[in-house]
Amino acid sequence: MSPGKGPAGARSFMKSRLEPSPPPAPGQAFRVGTAPADLSALFVREGDIPRDARMDKPIDQGRLILDGDLRPWSGRLGEVFSPVRVRTPAGLSPLRLGSRPRMTGRDALRVLAAARKAFADGRGAWPSLSLARRVRALEDFASRLAALREPVVRTLMWEIAKPRAELEAEFDRTVESFGRLVRVAAKRERAQRALIRQRGIVGLVRDEPRGVALCAGPYNYPLFETFGLVAPALLAGNTVIIKPPRIGVLFLDALLEPLAACFPPGTVHVLSGEGPAVLDPLMRSGGIDVFAFVGSVAVADRLIGLHPRRTRLRSLLGLGAKNAAVVLPDADLDVAVRECLLGALAFNGQRCAALKILFVHEAVREPFLERLAAETARVRIGMPWERGVRITPLADPARLPYLGALIDDAAGRGAAVVNENGGRSAGSLLVPAVLRPVTSRMRVFWEEQFGPIVPVAFFRRTEEPVGYLRASPFGQQASVFGDGIRTLGPFIEAARSQVARININAKCQRGPDLFPFSGKKDSARGDFSVTEILGAFSDRTVVAAREGGRGAALLLRCRAASGRPPSAKGGRP
Ligand code: G3H
Repeated sequence: MSPGKGPAGARSFMKSRLEPSPPPAPGQAFRVGTAPADLSALFVREGDIPRDARMDKPIDQGRLILDGDLRPWSGRLGEVFSPVRVRTPAGLSPLRLGSRPRMTGRDALRVLAAARKAFADGRGAWPSLSLARRVRALEDFASRLAALREPVVRTLMWEIAKPRAELEAEFDRTVESFGRLVRVAAKRERAQRALIRQRGIVGLVRDEPRGVALCAGPYNYPLFETFGLVAPALLAGNTVIIKPPRIGVLFLDALLEPLAACFPPGTVHVLSGEGPAVLDPLMRSGGIDVFAFVGSVAVADRLIGLHPRRTRLRSLLGLGAKNAAVVLPDADLDVAVRECLLGALAFNGQRCAALKILFVHEAVREPFLERLAAETARVRIGMPWERGVRITPLADPARLPYLGALIDDAAGRGAAVVNENGGRSAGSLLVPAVLRPVTSRMRVFWEEQFGPIVPVAFFRRTEEPVGYLRASPFGQQASVFGDGIRTLGPFIEAARSQVARININAKCQRGPDLFPFSGKKDSARGDFSVTEILGAFSDRTVVAAREGGRGAALLLRCRAASGRPPSAKGGRP
């Protein structure tokens, strides 16, 4: 790692953020916290990075899986910098982490051709394997992945600046999810061995792979969300093209060898390059059968729009969210504040399931805000290797001007930043900003900030936050804090038609991963839960015959012999 000439930090709003926040209205005394006068001091000098947090050397990724094999890459490279900056005599400087291939559209089409050839209309080596053999390959990959915990976590810590403890949890969750997925797949297959008899017809219903699956994960969970798509796509028998996120790519270098070793040639590929350059030609070609994507609705719409056979394309989409928390007059405020802060600020609020707006009943607004400001002051800001840290450099420093513009817009329309130093920034760090009162005239009321801004709106009648849920284009989750069925009940009843999960006295979240994870309206298409996701990568196919005839006898014999219905594929590997 070395300080380099990285992307220029965005600073347009910083000056205004250094101005004092508008004071609270008379009579509203908040216990506000402090942030260091010089935020830059939270960054360290390169020589002061703890030994166990350093990357040994830059990762200059000179290889890729091409034409089914791991091959050297001699094309163009793109430099990769960390959002974690280092202090130098000249100021804060971005650290160079390495470089990665910048594939062209032509390279991407070459990858697609290899993936299509390996699928071979369902007759390729991988789709033809029994589930048991696919499971063995996935388990082999899982154990090789498990051995790479430390380098993967460390690389990601530098790439996306997620706190180490959260990355370790993400890593373990990913490996564990493979085991759960395997159990679900085995159960699904056992259930599909049952003959269905009705009206003189006997049949077997089986999952068949769809074809080539394009799996694209987000930068906030580059490992879990990406491999949460890749593993089921593979287990279902598809060949897979992985598109890593824009930020969080170098960690995949360590996974190339295991991917190439555990699966037959052509089964798994990793794209590397700018999204539009590599994804547009793939979608335009019509050769993608499943589009599994976690990102924005705008990108999803655009890419799906390029596909020439949109009705044939299967899409599994995890998109935007603006999850609201509603604090009712009978809420336990200690619980509500704790959960709201965790929900809003874990990993800088860079979670799709983050709480992105709080609706607080007028009856409890002052005690709630007082506690919220006090607790916000206790949130630790620092570098991702530091213990207990929650606010770290923003993964995408280019987001700073956007977040600043949201704060400035709200401040210009009458909102105040209630916590001292809220909204101040240095380099890629942004001190969380608790904004009050936000109203429908402000951008932050509607837009998904995906950053450490906590907008607080006030309400008198439950219909007001319910109206918000109805008007919002998003519909992932909501949280509600209260104590009585008479207060909670009406909100839950009304919210059920608007969001896919309602959390009572708890923050919004995806886990446990056995639960459905989906969204209404523009937030999602399909269910990402471990129990359902295999269905997104499979086509249910029926083989049926008249009972008592030769066809039925054949069906029974084949099921007994192989667990699979008759097939013209011939021998299997
Ligand atoms: O960003 C979306 C994540 O999948 C949500 O998962 O609730 O565990 O952070 P989480």
